Amino acid sequence: MTQLHFKRHRRLRSSATMRSMVKETYLHKEDLIYPIFVMEGENIKNPVSSMPGVFQFSLDRLDEEIDEVVELGIPAVILFGIPAEKDDVGTGAFHDHGIVQEATRQIKARHPELLVIADTCLCEFTDHGHCGVVEGETILNDPSLDVLARTAVSQAKAGADIIAPSNMMDGFVIAIRTALDEAGFHDVPIMSYAVKYASSYYGPFREAADGAPQFGDRKTYQMDPSNRLEAIREAQSDIDEGADFLIVKPALSYLDVVRDVRNNFPVPIVAYNVSGEYAMIKAAAGNGWIDEKSVVLETLLGMKRAGADLILTYHAKDVARWLEEK
Ligand code: PBG
Ligand code: ZN
Repeated sequence: MTQLHFKRHRRLRSSATMRSMVKETYLHKEDLIYPIFVMEGENIKNPVSSMPGVFQFSLDRLDEEIDEVVELGIPAVILFGIPAEKDDVGTGAFHDHGIVQEATRQIKARHPELLVIADTCLCEFTDHGHCGVVEGETILNDPSLDVLARTAVSQAKAGADIIAPSNMMDGFVIAIRTALDEAGFHDVPIMSYAVKYASSYYGPFREAADGAPQFGDRKTYQMDPSNRLEAIREAQSDIDEGADFLIVKPALSYLDVVRDVRNNFPVPIVAYNVSGEYAMIKAAAGNGWIDEKSVVLETLLGMKRAGADLILTYHAKDVARWLEEK
């Protein structure tokens, strides 16, 4: 037979040991951040129907969940709060005894080493369900900054380790950084939802957090899914304003953006594997159409390969368990 010249890529795939030696990307449980929904009330552990395995917890039922997260070696949780009452400015968001503030105190008292990240937004706390203050049908930018800054300071006072603003008002990072510094919280970092698209993948979350907009949509403040360069502008301004981490959200349909942000900004990059992404996998797995474990691990590995350092995911507890098995 004549000598053919081609590369033998299969040489490096010949055995499990060989494959493991040339593996480029890893998923670690240290990469994971687990979202938790805390709700005012008593004896509540409500299943979220569109997110099997995810619940809303009242504070008296929360310890069990947090203990499990700690036991699994997950380093951080992010808290979303559902208040008993909502109003037009979202007063519950910055109340010193608000649901997120109280949950933070409770968690930090029980597990000081677990990092508590506080989501800083108003949509769960406003009766209109928008992420800022509204006038008529307009979501006002600058008046929202003050409310968001107060919210962040009250969360830091309660012991939050990281502030994660998700509201997409312009200037929220500098407004929050300044307020935190003035209140003495120089050492509390900001994990900015810098690159957040107006996505249909947030549907299940809006059920979980009871934060759907009551009129219109979020397209005047969240980004257009068509835009890639705009992500660089958004990330740049947040870095200029003092963000310590950058979140790209959603993850799965935006892995090119994760890579762009990774390549342009030398800070920790967080991919948010959002509720709709979780729901799709859960639904297909529940029907026996895909293998849940291998699909989840492949999906999250893809986010790491795209350049994410950390992954915010509802699969975190399962993933931590699966990584332990191997
Ligand atoms: C609210 C917020 C949303 C998510 C996180 N914070 C929803 C939205 O902006 O409408 C989505 C998370 C998910 O879908 O998992 N500011
Ligand atoms: Zn919001």
